[in-house]
Amino acid sequence: MANADGRVIAVANMKGGVGKTTTVVMLAEGLAEAGHRVVVLDLDAQANASYCFAPDDQLKAILEQRRSVTSFLADRLLYGDRTPITDYLARDISHVMKAGEPLAIDMVVASPRLRLLEREIVLRLTEKNYGIRSLEGQSLKVLEEALVLLKARYDYVLFDCAPGISAFTEVAIRLADMVVVPTIPDYLSTLGFDAFRASVWENAHVTRSALPQPKRRPVVLASRVNGNKIQHRETLASLRNEAEEPDAVFEMFDLEVDNQASIERAMDPENFPYAPTFEQKWNRALGQVRDLVTETRRRLDG
Ligand SMILES: Nc1ncnc2c1ncn2[C@@H]1O[C@H](COP(=O)(O)OP(=O)(O)OP(=O)(O)O)[C@@H](O)[C@H]1O
Ligand SMILES: [Mg+2]
Repeated sequence: MANADGRVIAVANMKGGVGKTTTVVMLAEGLAEAGHRVVVLDLDAQANASYCFAPDDQLKAILEQRRSVTSFLADRLLYGDRTPITDYLARDISHVMKAGEPLAIDMVVASPRLRLLEREIVLRLTEKNYGIRSLEGQSLKVLEEALVLLKARYDYVLFDCAPGISAFTEVAIRLADMVVVPTIPDYLSTLGFDAFRASVWENAHVTRSALPQPKRRPVVLASRVNGNKIQHRETLASLRNEAEEPDAVFEMFDLEVDNQASIERAMDPENFPYAPTFEQKWNRALGQVRDLVTETRRRLDG
């Protein structure tokens, strides 16, 4: 049952291809399998998470009904329309089964127009002599209001953020109770994490941002880990040392998500032309999905 106070998790990293969307899908299905009501908001114009949950024709039909984050933000920010976020939901979107029922996952999908929309809003604001700060401020208000409704109906609200730093990512990070940052434990990815963390968590207060500080430190989730690679093991050891220092600027999951075929396979809906059970879908990665859920709940409550 949903309580009145759902928790908000944003999965974000400036770096692309590190496993953000994979983490969102693992968390959404794992939390739903554990009996929680889950809603996913796709904030990425690539719409990867949307395709994972609603392949092809289903997604097309949802977009034709103007049910998407893109339509919601356009209606609010461009047209001053006040239709509530709940009218943009695609309900019971999951094809994954548990005890003969699909998992209870609702979603607000993204459309590829999301990127254009952001540009359009910036242009309109510039015409009125407002800038990017104003876009951030307005997006914050709109998404904050949406979250009031969603948190009353769901146990968990998950944001899948786009790579790079968009206004919508900046806002999702500020509204989240926890920001999970999937990071491949190699040199370039840790450099990328450091730049991302510094720009969002450290510089915010000096850049006259319209946004509040994030609620807590980012939580690194080691992703696509290859335990046979010395570089991965060494990078993990040094990340863990850093996370354990008394003045650490980030936290870190104990769990390390392995780079494995079962996860890659689970992320392609074409591998499941039938409605798989949760166990069939995650197969050898089942233990990692369950561990991710357990540790996420512990970190949110602790
Ligand atoms: N643990 C894993 N094991 C194997 N493959 C993985 C794993 N995690 C992610 N992948 C694969 O890596 C690719 C990138 O993953 P994903 O799309 O989740 O990254 P992302 O950070 O969301 O990317 P983007 O920045 O483009 O949004 C996908 O093909 C996915 O299937
Ligand atoms: Mg992604």
